[in-house]
Amino acid sequence: MTSRYRPGMIFCEMVKMDALIRHDPNTYRILDYDGSMHPIGAQLVGSKSKLAGPCAKIIEELGFDLVDLNCGCPVDKVTKDNSGSGLLRHPELIGEILSNMIAAVKIPVTVKIRAGWDKDSINGPLVTEIAEKAGAKAIFVHGRTREQGYEGPANWDYITECKKAAKAMPVFGNGDVIDHLSAERMFAQTGCDGVLLSRGTFGAPWLVEDIIRHFHGEIVQARTGNEVREVFLEHLDQIVAYQPERKALLDLRRIGSWYLKKGGSGVKKLKEMVAKADNLQEVTATLKGIDWEES
Ligand SMILES: Cc1cc2nc3c(=O)[nH]c(=O)nc-3n(C[C@H](O)[C@H](O)[C@H](O)COP(=O)(O)O)c2cc1C
Repeated sequence: MTSRYRPGMIFCEMVKMDALIRHDPNTYRILDYDGSMHPIGAQLVGSKSKLAGPCAKIIEELGFDLVDLNCGCPVDKVTKDNSGSGLLRHPELIGEILSNMIAAVKIPVTVKIRAGWDKDSINGPLVTEIAEKAGAKAIFVHGRTREQGYEGPANWDYITECKKAAKAMPVFGNGDVIDHLSAERMFAQTGCDGVLLSRGTFGAPWLVEDIIRHFHGEIVQARTGNEVREVFLEHLDQIVAYQPERKALLDLRRIGSWYLKKGGSGVKKLKEMVAKADNLQEVTATLKGIDWEES
């Protein structure tokens, strides 16, 4: 849904280098995208530098506009072989992997990092320097450590430090940008060159449009209940067109809770219905029949 609101670029969910190289069908499905979504980037996760070049090449051949290296995923089963944020403990390996990716493709290669493994080993600025030296075209900095997971506020000072460490490579700030005002604060406070949005777009895929409007001096108005309903239903249509019914139902429950996060007692009832939904057609018909302004 987000691509409809014209972001500078969007990303697919990360894919494992090992799985990509052995042509795992589920991995290729994650990389399935629609031509209308350009510019679109793919992201590799892995720590085997020999796989990095061939994997980046596969991404390029799939028509992606950019390939990114994930150095941020905090999950144990990813970091245990030094992949994801595990790479932050081996900054020199990040340089080696990026160099191999860059040598293999013509599309831009970027890197996404966290501030460091934990608060006692903040090395975002060092990784920024290494990435720039290797030839990365941009760095995305999530202002949390691996130790933090997704808890607590992001510390934007870590992003400022990375921006200072970069000579000419653009630095994107990430973490806790939830509306146009926090986007403005992110730019002002860190001096970053761009902002990467994540959870703020859940149930609000128009967030990027709000931010762009704000920077063009336009007034940003909250979406009405019925506007939210229309976007939710369109999102649901896309899911139903793409997933088998059983998976679409699970997705409905997940995204339903995002779109229904605000609202009065009527919305509470809707939430309960969506959470228990076991028939897509019934739920969709009910959602269509309700005036969300009155809920
Ligand atoms: C459900 C979920 C999936 C994510 N998947 C990825 C991913 O594939 N690659 C990545 O670099 N970050 C991923 N992230 C992390 C986000 O990109 C982002 O760094 C983090 O959520 C902080 O930004 P936020 O505070 O704006 O959400 C994911 C986050 C969530 C909540």
